[in-house]
Amino acid sequence: MLNNIKANITAVGKYVPEKIITNHEFEKKLDTSNDWILSRTGIKERRQVSNGKASVYMGIQAVRNLLKKTHIKTDDIDVIIVSTITPDMFFPSCACLIQKEIGANNSWGFDLSAACSGFIFGLETASNMIKSGIYKKIIVIGVDTMSSILDYNDRNTCVLFGDGAGAVLVEPSNDYGIIDSLMKIDGSGGDYLYMPAGGSLNPATKETVEKKMHYVKQDGANVFKRAVKGMTDITLEIMNRNKLSPSDLNLFIPHQANQRIIELVGNKLDLKTNQILINIDKYANTTAATIPIAIYDAIIDNKLKTNDNLIISTFGAGFTWGSMYINWNLDG
Ligand code: UT7
Repeated sequence: MLNNIKANITAVGKYVPEKIITNHEFEKKLDTSNDWILSRTGIKERRQVSNGKASVYMGIQAVRNLLKKTHIKTDDIDVIIVSTITPDMFFPSCACLIQKEIGANNSWGFDLSAACSGFIFGLETASNMIKSGIYKKIIVIGVDTMSSILDYNDRNTCVLFGDGAGAVLVEPSNDYGIIDSLMKIDGSGGDYLYMPAGGSLNPATKETVEKKMHYVKQDGANVFKRAVKGMTDITLEIMNRNKLSPSDLNLFIPHQANQRIIELVGNKLDLKTNQILINIDKYANTTAATIPIAIYDAIIDNKLKTNDNLIISTFGAGFTWGSMYINWNLDG
């Protein structure tokens, strides 16, 4: 390991579909209301990709958006990591399909499954590949087409999620980038958020379709409690071991699953409202895409400046969770 080398995010891209579904549209079909959704989750609307398009399409758009903001050529890309639980198909991987479309002719890559933690787990993987000294340019994409696995008759889940993609370029830096990180999994949480069918245990049959086993199932209250504790505990550990007080943090970007979760974690970390990025109102929970989309929005809104201390944090199905401390500088 070249210990002085850090992995740094040097460009960010985003794509969200044009089609907006407001809470009011759910009111017409389900026993729900804008008031309930907004007050319990903070969500006002979400995006939905159009028929015939899915995760690969959104991932490509996010990478193309990223490439406009950087000097690199697609042939320079060494590795493509696609974090998603909604790949276009099991194989070939989204990484292969995206590689072909963007013309990254000298790369290899793979898909990574860690639900809402996928992007941070992908970034952690990229960080260690950069620190090895072997790879110089890695694209990490967080993308999910949640509309493809939602039961639009189930008010407990369908109002919570949206479609979208974000992508980052990770390169070596001597000065800035990822300083510290902490990742966890706990499979005892597997029953609280999952999709029962479609894998090798329950392949698609008439019965699995009739029993609605190809949709997201969630025990929301249980996941809620574990998410608050999980994100708080590891973020505090990262802050303590890096001697960061709450006021040292310029921005905290948490996974966007529920505004109440975000506010509870923010309170426990003793952060002020202006230190926390919240955009769940616009996009709902885009699973692996929430963090890169939020990073993109933070840049556009001038909330991230050179030398800022940023912590990103997430919690998702598995259970999976992780936090990462980044000393920010897009210019390396
Ligand atoms: O990103 C991956 C990780 N996921 C999360 O972090 C999600 C974590 N969980 C949550 O965000 C929240 O638990 C939910 C938003 C899913 C639910 O909020 P809650 O305050 O925990 O509500 P609840 O599950 O305790 O349900 C309260 C009531 C139930 O009715 P009864 O049984 O009390 O009569 C639900 O049926 O709210 C009902 N309900 C709804 N009512 C109107 C659930 N969804 C809806 C809805 N509209 N859309």
